Amino acid sequence: MQTRRSFIKKSTAVLPVICFSNQVLAGAVSDGGSFPVVISTWNHGLPANQAAWEVLVKGGSSLDAVEAGVRVPEADPEVITVGYGGIPDADGKVTLDACIMDEKGRAGSVTFLEHIKHPISVARLVMEKTPHVMLSGDGALKFALENGFKKENLLTPKMKAAWKKWKKEKRTFSTKINIENQLLENHDTIGMLAIDKEGRLSGACTTSGMGYKLHGRVGDSPIIGAGLFVDGEVGGAVATGSGELVMKTLGSFLVVEMMRNGKSPSEACEEAVKRIAKKIPDYKNHQVGFLALNLKGEYGSFCIQPGFNYAVKNGSTEKLIDAEAWFKTL
Ligand code: GLY
Repeated sequence: MQTRRSFIKKSTAVLPVICFSNQVLAGAVSDGGSFPVVISTWNHGLPANQAAWEVLVKGGSSLDAVEAGVRVPEADPEVITVGYGGIPDADGKVTLDACIMDEKGRAGSVTFLEHIKHPISVARLVMEKTPHVMLSGDGALKFALENGFKKENLLTPKMKAAWKKWKKEKRTFSTKINIENQLLENHDTIGMLAIDKEGRLSGACTTSGMGYKLHGRVGDSPIIGAGLFVDGEVGGAVATGSGELVMKTLGSFLVVEMMRNGKSPSEACEEAVKRIAKKIPDYKNHQVGFLALNLKGEYGSFCIQPGFNYAVKNGSTEKLIDAEAWFKTL
């Protein structure tokens, strides 16, 4: 598979270096330009996109597509950062965050939700059946159970063993995640954006959050404007990585506003990374990736550290792309 990164690697004889300069940011391009289209974060986005695509090609709505798409990693115990089988928190509990938003500006969210395999579907129900945007913790669980969701144990034996080992080793919590050549223990959120045949754009974002986080911690993923934002007149954006940095800069909202002001999706994602670099002194120890889609079906991304990739599917292509990074290895 020819990704942008592998193309760059093949095209240069330069030895590995770490660059830190605005020059690195120059020339990022956005791809695509057709719809239906679905894009999502990380390699777990490939099977998720496939599920979303099956809705889109039949003429289904982007809202149905993104919900169907992200339910795939939510149910997959091998994806240890989303839904069932997710890494637990410091108390050994799997607590989930998710949100969904459509082109009309409707939004729903759940945070700190336990025992429900598909938080994204609960978030959609919050959006469609309540006057609220966000339900949290026990309240979200009560709402889910009252609406027919089943209470389940989301902690798999594999993750229980990993948590016990983590406790025994008294390891310190690490936020440095998703960086190339490092253990991907904290491999992250799925954020998905799709445009359907009628040009409607929706997004979804769902995660078990940072592994071994403090009990009660909520990240960016269920926060409208942080982990996800959609504006039906402009486009949408999702974020992945250290949620605290994204929350402090309202990253996805920022990306969409940059697109509103004429930036391409890639340029808009760069600007959001630049904002983090400007405002958050400790940003070098973190990974954050943004992924954006505009109404023309053009998409792009940008991240702090090498190692973030995203999956794309439209009528002509299905691929995994390495995102351009602020700290770049050539
Ligand atoms: N981006 C996911 C989290 O920080 O929980």
